Amino acid sequence: DFPVVNIPVYVHVIYNTSQENISDAQINSQMAVLNKDFRMTNSDANQIPNEFADRAADTQINFTLAGVTRTFSSRTSWGTRDDMKKSSQGGVDPIDPANYLNMWVCNIGGGILGYAQFPGGSPDTDGVVIAPQYFGTQGYVAAPFDGGRTTTHEVGHYLNLRHIWGDGRCRQDDFVIDTPSSDRANYGCPAYPTTHCKSTDMTMNYMDYVDDACMYMFSNGQKLRMRAVLEAGGARESLAN
Ligand code: ARG
Ligand code: ZN
Ligand code: CA
Repeated sequence: DFPVVNIPVYVHVIYNTSQENISDAQINSQMAVLNKDFRMTNSDANQIPNEFADRAADTQINFTLAGVTRTFSSRTSWGTRDDMKKSSQGGVDPIDPANYLNMWVCNIGGGILGYAQFPGGSPDTDGVVIAPQYFGTQGYVAAPFDGGRTTTHEVGHYLNLRHIWGDGRCRQDDFVIDTPSSDRANYGCPAYPTTHCKSTDMTMNYMDYVDDACMYMFSNGQKLRMRAVLEAGGARESLAN
């Protein structure tokens, strides 16, 4: 086993409406979900089917809130071109992104829940972006994405995880050994078993596209892939402490 690593987090709330200026309680509710999901203390882990039970991972990654910034903007939606991460564009620059996971909470628009930068990108735009309605479990949240799992999914990308179906056909890999091959995203709340590419899809994985209530595990292979970027020589080595 590994030591538990801790990742400190800055949350940048950029709001136009007062609803978008989400409360500290809403932010804390998101931090609680992140820690439950990454430490496998989520209460729905008991729904993991037997077929996958021994692949379910406590990633031993923990998150602590280092600080919150709040910024009013006249802009009503931000898109996915990283303007929210640039003070020159009316956004907020990341704080020390080598040492902190920066999260921007702002209206993205276009029905987009969130997006992330993979390891190895520019420090100026490093972090994850989540729309306020999908951040946390209380306050200004919207079903069926009101379980805080959009952030779990985006932090998975930030720590180098691909979508579980590999974003392609059966042989397109997610580079994780213990996640079954699939040729598509799953949505909503799929019945078990859902079979594609001659094996049961791990639809309940955080890196699929199902509703928040229907995703409740990372796999051991995903844990290793995330841990690798945080350990000595990894692209996000400086984050972990
Ligand atoms: N579409 C987004 C992405 O690919 C997030 C999907 C989050 N899903 C969820 N059930 N919250 O990064
Ligand atoms: Zn994704
Ligand atoms: Ca796989």
